[in-house]
Amino acid sequence: MALVNAKEMLTKAKQGHYAVGQFNINNLEWTKAVLLTAQELNSPVILGVSEGAGKYMCGYKTVVGMVNGMLEELNITVPVALHLDHGSYEGAKKCIEAGFSSVMFDGSHYPIDENIAKTKELVGVCNDLNLSIEAEVGSIGGEEDGVVGAGECADPQECKMIADLGVTMLAAGIGNIHGKYPENWAGLSFETLDAIQKLTGDMPLVLHGGTGIPEDMIKKAIDLGVSKINVNTECQLTFAAATREYIEAGKDLQGKGFDPRKLLAPGFEAIKQTVKEKMELFGSVNKA
Ligand code: 13P
Repeated sequence: MALVNAKEMLTKAKQGHYAVGQFNINNLEWTKAVLLTAQELNSPVILGVSEGAGKYMCGYKTVVGMVNGMLEELNITVPVALHLDHGSYEGAKKCIEAGFSSVMFDGSHYPIDENIAKTKELVGVCNDLNLSIEAEVGSIGGEEDGVVGAGECADPQECKMIADLGVTMLAAGIGNIHGKYPENWAGLSFETLDAIQKLTGDMPLVLHGGTGIPEDMIKKAIDLGVSKINVNTECQLTFAAATREYIEAGKDLQGKGFDPRKLLAPGFEAIKQTVKEKMELFGSVNKA
């Protein structure tokens, strides 16, 4: 199946009270692990690409070529969206040109009027091309690929203003943080989420910083209108731990254990396992 606009999968998720996972990709192993797991579990999926990861993978055109090749060669039939994560205005335009099916424009660091103006323009471009678009209000805390956020709770009225521009999905800061959560983290602000959902109605809400949020908080967030949950760091951690175990056991020194296809296999399996656990938790299994 060709790449899809994420609107339909997220509308169904919001109506069905589950969430679709966005898993950030970094290379071929990552992409293959996420796609195969989605197919095995019959789940829709969103592949997230940060600007930094896009650069690392030799540019957005390379990413589009790799993903489209895999959809065909691996016979992937579940809905897959290829989505720019935390895009700048210029980055969003580049991804649209390169063939992404979805983009995020993160204008949360601009004054709200500028965020509205830039989001509005990109909504027009995406609508014309049948692409989905995510906007952000209230920055997400922590750091992801050089994008640093203060971690604030979004103003629900500002969320409504951005939602009314016709975006497909809305990311709002509710005390969430990219990367590992600190010991003294106060947790998600469900009060903020509830207020945003009341004002934005059917709009699928996006929860960034999916790594390390306790299961009961994830479930409550889904109950309060979250339909897309982003996970990045957790796949990196499980990949690194499995690779470390392989090397520490000296397996790269045995036979042809140094072959990258063997060396990277435990990390690949670890990503698959993490993605599977998240899809089960988010409730997207068999929702393709
Ligand atoms: P984590 O790295 O904390 O899982 O966050 C991912 C994310 O929000 C991508 O935008």
